[in-house]
Order: sequence, then structure tokens, then C-alpha cells
Amino acid sequence: MKNTTSTILEQKRNGDKITMLTAYDYSTAKLIDEAGINSILVGDSLGMVMLGYEDTLSVTMEDMIHHTRAVARGAKNALIVADMPFMSYQTSVYDAVVNAGRLIKEGRAHAVKLEGGATVCEQIRAIVDASIPVVAHLGLTPQSVNAFGGFKVQGKTEDDAKKLLEDAKAIEKAGAFAVVLECVPAKLAKLITQTLSIPTIGIGAGADCDGQVLVYQDMLGMFSDFTPKFVKKYTDVGEVMKRAFKEYINEVKASEFPSEEHGFKISDDIIDKLY
Ligand code: KIV
Repeated sequence: MKNTTSTILEQKRNGDKITMLTAYDYSTAKLIDEAGINSILVGDSLGMVMLGYEDTLSVTMEDMIHHTRAVARGAKNALIVADMPFMSYQTSVYDAVVNAGRLIKEGRAHAVKLEGGATVCEQIRAIVDASIPVVAHLGLTPQSVNAFGGFKVQGKTEDDAKKLLEDAKAIEKAGAFAVVLECVPAKLAKLITQTLSIPTIGIGAGADCDGQVLVYQDMLGMFSDFTPKFVKKYTDVGEVMKRAFKEYINEVKASEFPSEEHGFKISDDIIDKLY
């Protein structure tokens, strides 16, 4: 079944949990799509898990378009959401619409995601007015890592919790069709979920959100730089890969790979004529 913004909204109404994973390339997007995911997020987390930066701040529009195009070629049914990178929308409403348009037109995403609450509502409104669906992102918004002083849980004090709730209402009013809640106390995420009519998609925000999202390298055990508390490792693909790489190295060194079955034949007559 093809997932759209309408089917995602319908899932909230029906109490059917929304599933989302990140992907950044064709092969992984194809596998995730075939597994039956509702939505694929081409997150700017690609800066960390694909490109090796220490945060998401260096990710460019070109990076996002390049990876979104690859994901769009691999996914047939998932709703593809592309992240708007740092400084592609904060600078002006005009920049926000132009850059959101590029992610749809050149990247072939179905929707864009941007970070922030009341301060980016003008941008959300303008992008939605350009017929581009928007997912908002509240709580630990990684593009604000320097303002937060690190990757920290948000909304823990009364003032911060109130502000998060107000931001959630504001982005809904501005026209966002869903919101990612990252590293938000579970009870606050539950209250926001009950308050909004658009779906909440949680990452480190408890089980009461309307859906969940994870970075696929985290849930497969492929990213070892650090593992956030909210990650569940479903398997250890990193170990499986390392074992296979070692086996390959050993077999090449021992001239065991390639064997005859992995090669191509030519008649000896032809070879003899070349000597
Ligand atoms: O960039 C990303 O992968 C994200 C998720 C962590 C929600 O924004």
C-alpha cells in the first residue's frame, strides 16, 4: 500500500502506530520499504552516520538532495521525508520555500522536515502554502546542539515543558502534518500526543507517541561512535559485517578467493595463441 500524508493522518485517527526509519541510500531504502515501513526519513543524521561529522551542522542541500534521490529510487511505497539541513530555512522564509522545493523537485521527497517551534512557523506556513507537506521536529533538535550545550533531553522543567507544548500547538496551527518529538520525557510526549490532532513520531519520547522513528544504523548495531539511551539494538549487523570483511581478507591473502566458480572461462586455444 502506498503511504501518503493522508494515510499517515488516518493512522493516528485509527490508533494504528506509524513506523519510520531513516535511510540514505538506494539498497537500504529498498530493504526497509520491502519490510513494509510507513515512512522513510532521509535525516540530516546522514552527516554523522554516513559522512562521519561530529554533528549535523555541516550537511548541505547538495548532500540532502543526493541521498534523497537515491532513497526515492529504492522506496516504492514509503512516504519519503527529507530533512532541511542547517541554515537552509532559518535564514529567511524565501530560502525555506526554495530549499523545500529543491528537496521535492530534485530529491523526489514527498515531504520535508525542519526543526523548531514558534520561531519557524512562518517558514512552515509558506512551505505548506507552496503545496509541500511539512513534518516539524521538537525537543532535542540536533541543529541547535551548540545552543543547548550538547545533546540533552528537553522539556524537563515546568517552563521548558510549557514551551514545548506551546510550540507543538503552534506548528500544528502553522500547517505541519506531523511532528517528530526527540528526547522528550514520556509523560510530556503523551500529553502532546493527546493534545494534537496531527501525529507525533517519537524518538526517545516513550511509547505513547503515534509512531516511532530510529536511525537504522543504530537499530542494526552499525554505528559504534555512541549509542543513545533510547536506541534498541535489534541485531548486530556491525559484527556480522566485520566478520565477513575479515573472512574476505583472509581468503584473498590465502588465494582461496576467487575460486573457479567466481571466474570467467576462455578456450585454451585462444590463450595459447597469445604466448
Ligand atoms: O536526522 C535524523 O535522522 C532525525 C531523526 C533522529 C528524527 O532527525
